Amino acid sequence: MPETCPTAATPLVLGIETSCDETGAAIVRGFEVLGEALASSVEDHARFGGVIPEIASRAHVEALEPVLGAALDRSGVALADIDAVAVTAGPGLMGSLTVGLAAAKALALALDKPLLGINHVIAHALADQVVHGPLPGRAMGLVVSGGHTSLLLIEGATVREVGATLDDAAGEAFDKIGRLLGLPYPGGPHIDRLARDGNPAAYRFPRGLMRRQDRERHPFDFSFSGLKTAVARWIEAHADDDVPLPVADLAASFSEAVSEVLVAKTLAACQAFEVETVVVGGGFSANSQLRDKMLHTGSHHGLTVRIPPIALCTDNGTMIAAAGAHALRHGLPPSGLDIGADSSLPMDRLVV
Ligand code: KG4
Ligand code: ZN
Repeated sequence: MPETCPTAATPLVLGIETSCDETGAAIVRGFEVLGEALASSVEDHARFGGVIPEIASRAHVEALEPVLGAALDRSGVALADIDAVAVTAGPGLMGSLTVGLAAAKALALALDKPLLGINHVIAHALADQVVHGPLPGRAMGLVVSGGHTSLLLIEGATVREVGATLDDAAGEAFDKIGRLLGLPYPGGPHIDRLARDGNPAAYRFPRGLMRRQDRERHPFDFSFSGLKTAVARWIEAHADDDVPLPVADLAASFSEAVSEVLVAKTLAACQAFEVETVVVGGGFSANSQLRDKMLHTGSHHGLTVRIPPIALCTDNGTMIAAAGAHALRHGLPPSGLDIGADSSLPMDRLVV
C-alpha cells in the first residue's frame, strides 16, 4: 500500500461513515461532492429509546455494500479511479466502527490506495467545506451531536480541542428530556419542532458553567447535566397536575438555555483565540434556535458563521470524504493498514 498520499489539488476521495446508526458513503473531488448515499438504522433503535450497538453493527453490515454502490453510481466514478479511501476510525461504537474500517481497509488494499482513518468529531467541523469552500487558515469549530460537544481550534490540519462538555452532550440532554416528555427517539428534532411554538422565556433554567467562578475555571467547557436535571425535576413535579404539561414552553425554555450557552462559549473562544470564522457541525446543529442565535450573534460581533444544510450536520459519508480531502490538502500522511477502531479517539488527531 502507498506510504504517501496523492498530491493533486483535487484528488478523488471515497468517504465511509459507520460510527453510530447511519451508514454513509460519498465520493468527492477536492471539496466537490460527486455522489453520496446514506442508510439509517434509527427506526430499529426507536423502540429501545437509544442506539443498541449490536443492532447498529448488523445494520452496517447489511447496508454498507448497497450504500457504497449507490454512491459510486451517482458519482459516475469507477472504484479504480479513487485516489484515497477515508473512513471513520473513531470516536463511535466499536462494532459499528469496525464494519466500516474493515471494508475501507479491504478497498485500500485491493485498490493499492492510501487509507485515511478519520476522526468523526473533527470531520463534523470540516463538512461545511463542500458547501462554502475551504476554511480559512484559522477557524473555530463547534461540534454538537448526540455524543459530543466540543470547541475545536482548527488551523489547517492542526486541531486543538479548547473546550468540551464535562458531562452530557447537548444532543444527549435533548434526547433524555425528549424521553421524559414522551417524545419518540431521538427527541432532539421533536423538541426543536415543539420549541418553535413556545416561549423561550417562560422558564428560567440553569445555564451550565456560566457563573463567573465557573467561567474562570472552564471558560470554553460545557455542562448540561444540571440543566437536564432541573428540567426533569420540573416535569416530574408537574406530571400529576390536572392540566397538560406546557410542552412547547418547556421545549423552548430548555432549548434556549442550551443554545444560549453554546453560542456564548463559542463567542468567548473566538475572542480569546482571535478567530474570525466559526464553523458549526454535528447533529445538534440542525437545531433552529442554535442556528438562529449563532448567525445573529456572529453578525453582531463581526464573525463569519458557517453552518451547512441539515443533511450535512447529521452523520453522513460526505463529511468523512471532506475530512479526507482536507487531510490530503494539508499534506497529512496516510494511516497504516494496522490501525484499529478507537471509541475515544483524541480530539487533536484528524487522521489516525
Ligand atoms: O451527529 P449525530 O447525527 O450523531 C452523533 O454523532 O451523535 O447527532 C445526533 C444528535 C441526536 O442527539 C439528535 O437528537 C440531535 O443530534 N438532533 C437535534 C436536532 N436534530 C438532530 N437536536 C436538536 N435539534 C434538532 N433539530
Ligand atoms: Zn456525529
